[in-house]
Amino acid sequence: MAHKIKTIAVMTGGGDCPGLNAVIRAVTKTAINKYGIKVWGIEDGFLGIIENRLRPLSYKDVSHILEVGGTILGSNNTTNPTKYPVKNKIGEVVFKDMSKECYRTLRQKKIDALICIGGDGTMTSAAKLAGKELAIIGVPKTIDNDLWGTDFTFGFNTAVATATDAIDKLRTTASAHHRIMVVEVMGRYAGWIALYAGIAGGSDVILIPEIPYKLDKVCDFIKQRNKWGKTYTIITVAEGAKEVGGEMVVRRTVAYSPEAIRLGGIADKLAGQIEMTLGLEARSVTLGYVQRGGRPTAHDRVLATSFGHAALELVMSGQKNRLVVLKNNKISSVPLSQVAGKVRNVPVDSSLILAAREVNTCFGD
Ligand code: F6P
Repeated sequence: MAHKIKTIAVMTGGGDCPGLNAVIRAVTKTAINKYGIKVWGIEDGFLGIIENRLRPLSYKDVSHILEVGGTILGSNNTTNPTKYPVKNKIGEVVFKDMSKECYRTLRQKKIDALICIGGDGTMTSAAKLAGKELAIIGVPKTIDNDLWGTDFTFGFNTAVATATDAIDKLRTTASAHHRIMVVEVMGRYAGWIALYAGIAGGSDVILIPEIPYKLDKVCDFIKQRNKWGKTYTIITVAEGAKEVGGEMVVRRTVAYSPEAIRLGGIADKLAGQIEMTLGLEARSVTLGYVQRGGRPTAHDRVLATSFGHAALELVMSGQKNRLVVLKNNKISSVPLSQVAGKVRNVPVDSSLILAAREVNTCFGD
């Protein structure tokens, strides 16, 4: 099979995260070094395929990018290639399947296989595009760590390190002012970042989407802490956390995005409710995009390099439409079709949650 692949393309889709460049580098260097094949870089994810914006990647293009955050190719989390908004003759927005245009672009460049680095949105679109015409291999990225099929995505470790550092810093100011500090972290519908950063930062309360909380339980816990002489409390809350019987807080909706809802604002809401209920000073901090930026940790560089290398090896061995994954500390792969449209949540019976509970962390339930 190996002799058939002469040209490949690589793209980064969805929200960026630290480690994307490390994958691009691993794919390109292995392709050039080991197999002597040509690599195209697609700009801005699926949008770049639709708009035919590709550039050749040389060995030099991918040198000294291992430690750099973001992506040299650009990314995009609003383009769905099979449901793309275009204006009809009377100026109305209608949705068009752009698969044929994508295949045409890739055929023009004689691309035999496409490596898609992305999260669940990208993999869902990739699974639809993949087929007879095109071999696709996915590489799992996202700070949210919510991609089904893999134990870890790269980008997550760096986001957790950033959030933990922030919690450490917020603890000293919360302690100095005897305040309640509510720290909101990203993660969409999964609580992985909140759970890991909350535990690593020694948060007193961790609120995640998987365990809806009760405001009175959180307030009782704060009162209890005050009785123990603890005059401040750190609450790490996932952006997707919600009260029992309540709704997630939506910051905005993004028109035409495959996943239109953007969460955010729970920390503000919760800090206000706690102040009202307890009459104690509470402040909120939303860490936001800082979690997606910066230099990848050593862990993420290693994972991203292993994933990129494995993706290229799958392509060269003739595999099609699979996602590279990390399962039980081993790199393997699963069919892309199995991953599409699924979210990997924190199991509520996980040993990590148990350990956190047993060191007296409150989950608000
Ligand atoms: O999926 C990564 C992520 O950062 C989520 O944690 C967050 O909810 C979302 O992307 C924000 O999306 P956007 O970049 O469109 O605001």
